[in-house]
Amino acid sequence: MENADDAGVYRLRDDLAIIQTVDFFTPIVDDPYTFGRIAVTNALSDVYAMGGRPLTAMNIVCFPIGKMDISILREILRGGLDQMREANVVLVGGHSVEDDEPKYGLSVTGIVHPDRVLANRGAIPGDRLILTKALGSGIASTAVKGGVADSALQKRSVAAMIELNRKAAELMAKRDDIHACTDITGFGLLGHAMEMIEGSETGIKIYANAVPYFEGVQELIETGIIPGGLVRNRKFREQQIEKGANCPAWIIDLLFDPQTSGGLFISLPEAGAKELLTEMRKAGLLDATIIGEVVSAPQGKIVIE
Ligand code: CO
Ligand code: CO
Repeated sequence: MENADDAGVYRLRDDLAIIQTVDFFTPIVDDPYTFGRIAVTNALSDVYAMGGRPLTAMNIVCFPIGKMDISILREILRGGLDQMREANVVLVGGHSVEDDEPKYGLSVTGIVHPDRVLANRGAIPGDRLILTKALGSGIASTAVKGGVADSALQKRSVAAMIELNRKAAELMAKRDDIHACTDITGFGLLGHAMEMIEGSETGIKIYANAVPYFEGVQELIETGIIPGGLVRNRKFREQQIEKGANCPAWIIDLLFDPQTSGGLFISLPEAGAKELLTEMRKAGLLDATIIGEVVSAPQGKIVIE
């Protein structure tokens, strides 16, 4: 666990290891069914990020019985179950407690070949970095809560949050050249990218103008509609970030935006990255983009230009 990897891995046999992870949170959208789907997509993501295949899951439920209509809980669970079906994951149990605020998520068990575990460490200078989903879901959720999000942005953001990282993981599983992988969630792209290189002899360069984001997010950032988590992420990592002269200021905020159910962030050699990107686009991952590269200097830093 020392390198803050996405999930725990335990070897059962020479050719089989289990991956375990748990994730749950409070609603980030008004519609309970959609919340269920997002929570499951997010919980499965850490298994995909480790190169694994999720098999079984257990529901974790907190709900204010008596204060809130039980049909809301039913909708959350129905959304979760539908998403598990889509991922080919079997629900085998769960646990619920009474709580003031609803919360939902899963504990997930997956499998992987021990030699094919993808860690967040291992990126090599010269690697290219693929991001599989557009950024801005944290900002979009904040705008929705504040009543200032247009419906197109809301739709785009929800569509991204319920998109399983399964296809991306399946394409990665066919390759032997993936050096590192993680998924982008609460710490924002720069937070999770820092975990990839912190204390190592490598750095990262991000191409500011290549970063995919939801239309409308730039305007929201520039009018100050940003989540508290973004500010905390930025404060925590500011010292390790270098902004190039041509990089617009709002991009830095975007790169610190906490993602509820973000994409995968994958490090592999340049030729492989181009190939994998083409396959991802063909598979329908239209926002997948090469957004940077791994460099040998400055070490332990991220330069955005
Ligand atoms: Co993760
Ligand atoms: Co997690």
